[in-house]
Amino acid sequence: MDLFLDPEAKRTATRELFEQLREAIVAGRLAAGDRLPPSRDVAARLGVSRHTVTTVYGRLVAEGFVDGRAGGGTFVNQLGTRKVGRERLLVALRPLDRLLSPDVWLADEPTLDVEPARFDLRAGTPDPALFPLVAWRRCMTTAHQTRPAGYGDPAGLASLRRAIAHWVGKSRAVDTTADNVIVTAGAQQGIDLVMRLLVRAGEIVAVEDPGYPPVRRLCAAVGAVIAPVPVDAEGMIVEQIPHRARIVYTTPSHQSPTGATMSLQRRRALLAFAERHDVAIIEDDYDSEYRHVDRPLEPLYRLDRCGRVIYVGTFSKTLSPSLRLGSVVLPDSLVAAAVNLRKLVGGQPGDAAQSTLLRFIADGELDRHLRRTRKIYSERHGLVSRFVREAATRGHLVEAVPNNAGLHVTALLPEGLGEQAVRNDCRAQGVAVGRLDECWHRPDPPAGIMLGFGAIATRDLPSALSTVGDVLASHARP
Ligand SMILES: Cc1ncc(COP(=O)(O)O)c(C=O)c1O
Repeated sequence: MDLFLDPEAKRTATRELFEQLREAIVAGRLAAGDRLPPSRDVAARLGVSRHTVTTVYGRLVAEGFVDGRAGGGTFVNQLGTRKVGRERLLVALRPLDRLLSPDVWLADEPTLDVEPARFDLRAGTPDPALFPLVAWRRCMTTAHQTRPAGYGDPAGLASLRRAIAHWVGKSRAVDTTADNVIVTAGAQQGIDLVMRLLVRAGEIVAVEDPGYPPVRRLCAAVGAVIAPVPVDAEGMIVEQIPHRARIVYTTPSHQSPTGATMSLQRRRALLAFAERHDVAIIEDDYDSEYRHVDRPLEPLYRLDRCGRVIYVGTFSKTLSPSLRLGSVVLPDSLVAAAVNLRKLVGGQPGDAAQSTLLRFIADGELDRHLRRTRKIYSERHGLVSRFVREAATRGHLVEAVPNNAGLHVTALLPEGLGEQAVRNDCRAQGVAVGRLDECWHRPDPPAGIMLGFGAIATRDLPSALSTVGDVLASHARP
């Protein structure tokens, strides 16, 4: 088996080696009876002392993963028959292989976590400094007047579901009622709920390629077959969705990560496809509250005439991902099963958080907060867009599609540039930029970067962007 040590890793060589061997044994890559390579060989191969390797082997013996045999050699034990009590419990039950596979779980780049970046241009989070703490705290106090009791409604507080139905109706023309709304702990949980309702292992889920990585991993986790569907400047290319797909997951308002807005023609084609082939559509409207240029198009949900669209929303971008609050609007046909599932698995946000959000919406605080933050994020969006345009003029970036919404802008790198090299160089200069490579399903995708402006103060943006510009210039061909 291949063992390696990452020179940048924060963990010691002993820890690193122990974890790798233990993981290989637990995952079954080293099976019962397999012999560990001689400690002298491992030490020479990895450039560590023999003492380090024997310490690791000693610990594996102590924890029952391996046994030293008289006459030499260290051999892997049978899982579940190991000698040590507590550790035995940890390995007696094996999860499904797919839950340990890299399709489901992907390590963060170790180099990025060595020390915090001075400037954070990664995509995904809104600015914590803009969180309306005073108003939220007031709503929390007002909302929290009675002692908590009972398990709560599995679909979420009826009053909050009414408020959300009203809110999505007003802000996104999603015409629905409280009965069709389920309050969730964020978009991802909503998508998981729908997957559990509709997908059997082995069925096809079509996702955008490039697309939002956690959803692809969720598909892998439920055992779905992932059908990656390419995306262009008009969004997902509908003709390339397999007819046998059970679900199509899409981000039409602001394609994640390219930023494309799905054209009206494509929206109609997608709905017609769904009707023809009996397919469900998950519309993830994760950040459409922030639209910086031109008017948003109507959501798919609004155009749907036959109840095939499930509309997923979240307060992660407008307020904070740490609140874990979102919603799903379901067609009538799925409501009862979704509520039953919720009764079984639980997972709805606590009533205190829900009633705080209810107050926050009812008192007009959400409107107020959005009016304020839209201006700020639009200014940042303008700065980043201009930077990308100028870098594109110089040939240092390629503007893939217009990015008109949300909290990040994506651009491609000129051919021949390595994404990780650019990212690492930015990081070495104190700027963390977002990864595009993990968003692709297809092999050998084009390189690019994501420039998020949610988590960086407006005043810091020019220096951060100028650093990225210098790095791009240094990589550009003469
Ligand atoms: C495409 C997409 N969907 C959903 C989410 C938010 O998920 P959640 O509401 O679970 O935080 C994000 C957050 O980055 C996202 O990029």
